[in-house]
Amino acid sequence: MSLLHGFLFQVYPYVCFVVFLVGCLIRFDQNQYSWKSDSSQLLRAGTLRWGSNLFHFGILFLFFGHLVGLFTPHSVYGPFMSAGTKQMLAVVAGGIAGFICFIGLSLLLYRRVFDPRIRLTSHRTDIAVLVVLWVQLVVGLITLPYSYQHTDGSVMLVLADWAQRIVTLRPVDATALAALPWPYLFHVVFGMTIFLLFPFSRLVHVWSGFASIAYLFRPYQSVRARRLNLPSGHNTPTRSL
Ligand code: HEM
Repeated sequence: MSLLHGFLFQVYPYVCFVVFLVGCLIRFDQNQYSWKSDSSQLLRAGTLRWGSNLFHFGILFLFFGHLVGLFTPHSVYGPFMSAGTKQMLAVVAGGIAGFICFIGLSLLLYRRVFDPRIRLTSHRTDIAVLVVLWVQLVVGLITLPYSYQHTDGSVMLVLADWAQRIVTLRPVDATALAALPWPYLFHVVFGMTIFLLFPFSRLVHVWSGFASIAYLFRPYQSVRARRLNLPSGHNTPTRSL
């Protein structure tokens, strides 16, 4: 195993994770006005409507799919389905969501690069984020035929074991990954790099997207009318928002 391979699969994940967490915390603390999705809908809505909706549907499906697929221990799903079945599920569902995401992301990238209004108002990182996500998605789609070649789920088990060991701070056997075809390795390393770039781009809005679910459960706000000269007890809440 080369030194670079050892670094990429044993040290790099922690570098990315720490930069991701600490970077987001510092940006939220120091520069809250820059914490936004930076929508360009007011400049041009047309392609954005299809592009953004298809992209967000696909990427959210893929995000949660990766989360559940990689971090559910084999002992939890083993009694219900074999590793091969789980991999086939991932290939089919991930393939469909990936294709939808690919169409949306390509529309977004096309619009950002070729629409003069959007191009002119884009920051370098706006374009970089779309290119990085596009490359990552395409390489992810390239892994599908590879996964189809070994339907026993063995590659998925190796990758899931590696990911679970990383997040639970257990020793990692990076040599087990060395034998995998290049698209898997590229996809894993590039995926971690997205976390590295996250705090420095508009991607921080993903935190807010998830946090906005809390809005559904927020407590009522009691709004009291300010009436003077009323006997005590009459200033009761008039409206709940
Ligand atoms: C958590 C739920 C999410 C919400 C509520 C959300 C919301 C938004 C909104 C309002 C915009 C600006 C309007 C637009 O361009 O459509 C946007 C843009 C964007 N979002 Fe999200 N988002 C979420 C998750 C994600 C995820 C998981 C990613 C990728 C990892 C992502 C990547 C992007 C990108 C790259 C753009 C810029 C698109 C462009 O205009 O070129 N979003 N998002």
